[in-house]
Amino acid sequence: MSKRIFDISWDQFQTLSLADKTPFLMQADGTPYHTLFAQQFGLGLLEQLALLANEIRVIAKTRSGTEFLRSQVAHKRAMLYFSQPSSRTFLSFVSACQILGVSTGEVRDTSISSEFKGESREDSVRTFSSYFDLIIMRTPEKGLAEHMAWVLSHSERPIPIINAGSGQDQHPTQALLDIYTLLRSFERSGGLCDRTVLFCGDLLRGRTVRSLSYLLTNYPNIRLIYVAPGPLQVGEDVLTMLKAKNIAYELTDDFHSAIPKADAVYMTRIQDEWDTTKGESAKIDTSRFKFGIEELKLLSPKGVILHPLPRRDEIAPEVDSDPRAMYWRQMRNGMWIRTALIAMTFGCENHIHEYFRHNY
Ligand code: CP
Repeated sequence: MSKRIFDISWDQFQTLSLADKTPFLMQADGTPYHTLFAQQFGLGLLEQLALLANEIRVIAKTRSGTEFLRSQVAHKRAMLYFSQPSSRTFLSFVSACQILGVSTGEVRDTSISSEFKGESREDSVRTFSSYFDLIIMRTPEKGLAEHMAWVLSHSERPIPIINAGSGQDQHPTQALLDIYTLLRSFERSGGLCDRTVLFCGDLLRGRTVRSLSYLLTNYPNIRLIYVAPGPLQVGEDVLTMLKAKNIAYELTDDFHSAIPKADAVYMTRIQDEWDTTKGESAKIDTSRFKFGIEELKLLSPKGVILHPLPRRDEIAPEVDSDPRAMYWRQMRNGMWIRTALIAMTFGCENHIHEYFRHNY
């Protein structure tokens, strides 16, 4: 059930739990209006998104299908406001907009926008909303997308916001594409229930790990293994959430013992851009947290390897040609799931389902 965000003050909104914030962010039909954090997505919505993404990828294979998709939201414009570096998220959102006919504008460097002259983030985002119908934003600050969603909802141009990565906190659309990749990987072998997912690397500062951990708790009998050097082990907030939901999990620094138990291995890079002192990450021994040919031998024949990318040296290039390496497909899946999300945000998913039913 959606609630009206303009009926609540920022001070009140801020104090709500994520579960209590969620109804303020959804449309009346239960699809997202603002997409700010992973907790907005339950099992039903994840299935709806995956189905829509599957249909879009089939429709997009033909010229007539591409033309149909491009006509869906051709009257809308999206602003990509990325004040943090990105390749995949930025480009896949641009591609998703192009697939649906949405025109785009961008600010990727605030030193050449009026923020440089001292304009506040609130005024910048309100400025974008004067010209665009959707803001897709990546920021180094936790909670900024939430605050901007509230600000816009109280302005004369309330438009949706999609969080494309916020600080060390959340990366909800990465988690959506990760789930989509897992669903596709296991669709012929029983689905995503009753699986063990192993996370490895910098689990403390990786926002993709937090968002995906939340989404995985939607699946019955899911088990999570967190493999990291002590200083980079997953945060207490994630463990508290897992305990509250009665999810089985294990923390370890023994990668080789854990790999054979996993259906999926989710590798992450060291996030040293968040170091608070110079060279802090370089002092941590990460040599045992890399995936190469030896680790491939330990992985189940039906297991899969994911990585949100970019990688450094935590997955050896020799692994890329193994059929269990899913990270390149995972990256392309980002374009399809983000197209599905934008289609839902603008309410054109039923047209797409109907076209698919009539033509395939
Ligand atoms: N996975 C991900 O967010 O990649 P980019 O930083 O390149 O967008």
